[in-house]
Amino acid sequence: MPVDTIRVAFIGCGVMAQRHAASYEKIGGAPIVGFCDVAEDRAQALAEKYAAQSFGDVGEMLDAVGPDGVYIVVPPFAHGEAEFACIERKIPFFVEKPINLDLSQAEDIAHKVQQADLLTAVGYHNRYRTGVNKARQILQDDPAVLALGGWIGESPLPNPEVPITVWWIDKSKSGGQFLEQATHTVDLVRFLIGEATEVAAVAAQGFNVGIPDYNIEDAWAVSIKFASGAVANLHACCASNAREGVTLDVYAKNCAFQFTGWDHHCKIFRTGREQSEEIIAESEEQIFYQEDAAFVDMLRTGDQSKVQSDYADALNTFAITVAADRSAATSEKIPL
Ligand SMILES: NC(=O)c1ccc[n+]([C@@H]2O[C@H](COP(=O)([O-])OP(=O)(O)OC[C@H]3O[C@@H](n4cnc5c(N)ncnc54)[C@H](O)[C@@H]3O)[C@@H](O)[C@H]2O)c1
Repeated sequence: MPVDTIRVAFIGCGVMAQRHAASYEKIGGAPIVGFCDVAEDRAQALAEKYAAQSFGDVGEMLDAVGPDGVYIVVPPFAHGEAEFACIERKIPFFVEKPINLDLSQAEDIAHKVQQADLLTAVGYHNRYRTGVNKARQILQDDPAVLALGGWIGESPLPNPEVPITVWWIDKSKSGGQFLEQATHTVDLVRFLIGEATEVAAVAAQGFNVGIPDYNIEDAWAVSIKFASGAVANLHACCASNAREGVTLDVYAKNCAFQFTGWDHHCKIFRTGREQSEEIIAESEEQIFYQEDAAFVDMLRTGDQSKVQSDYADALNTFAITVAADRSAATSEKIPL
């Protein structure tokens, strides 16, 4: 086996695990050796597809296959066991967003990751986009003043055949739409603007009725103040059946950026230029490939800077969404 072969394993074998595993059909020298899921049939199905072993127990898999890197792709409520098992064995991991539901557990994981000097990556794939990186570069010299954006979707329809549609509408499992989904936008504004200092939020409830077991908020409006002095108004809504969309607009004194759609197609506007510049967004397959290839590159080289989001950084994004939750519950502005 060549020394640069990287063997990866998956904990959680749902929709996102399948998307990440698909990248490995193109990444050379990085076989997938194990799949683990509490629903063992899902682990078995993927193990068969990728000629790997399947497991129902995290520790058993890690000890049996000894991977060089692990994907933790479980729903928000199921974090903890997988991360601690990897830390204990000093195995670097990639974790999908949001990193947790419990801030104190996430802080404990971050602390232990740092103590173990462990390489990590987090699934904020928009940080790999060409348009986002161009905007970030321009904003270094002309800093953002205001950001507006978020996720608007239709009323959820739970389908027992599709697990995410069931756990997503349960606040105790997903954390709600702002924490689970608009976290992408929260992370992007941090990537473009810097660290936040305070959060104030309000949430709407009572519009989505008659959906069995639905107990998340219908909409969010979240104001964020940044250390740079900039401000953002971010939103989420899952009760909009006439119009949906993902948007982020960022305004600076002499430039502005408009990101639209899941793929964050980017338009750049500059004072003194009549035409806006358009940057075609990467496809879904391409952006996950870039993110996964960066993870493998990090594992090969031991260089944490190869990935755009690590656990310690993602903890700050998570803290903003937790603060939004607390602000909506207490009607108080939450300092960070
Ligand atoms: N980056 C993105 O664009 C993106 C998109 C969708 C979802 N996600 C995130 O990815 C994560 C997974 O989402 P999904 O759509 O794959 O969900 P899913 O429900 O399709 O799959 C999750 C899998 O994890 C398994 N699981 C649950 N607890 C487990 C445990 N303790 N140990 C092992 N397996 C366990 C479930 O049985 C299920 O098979 C979520 O955090 C979600 O927010 C990210």
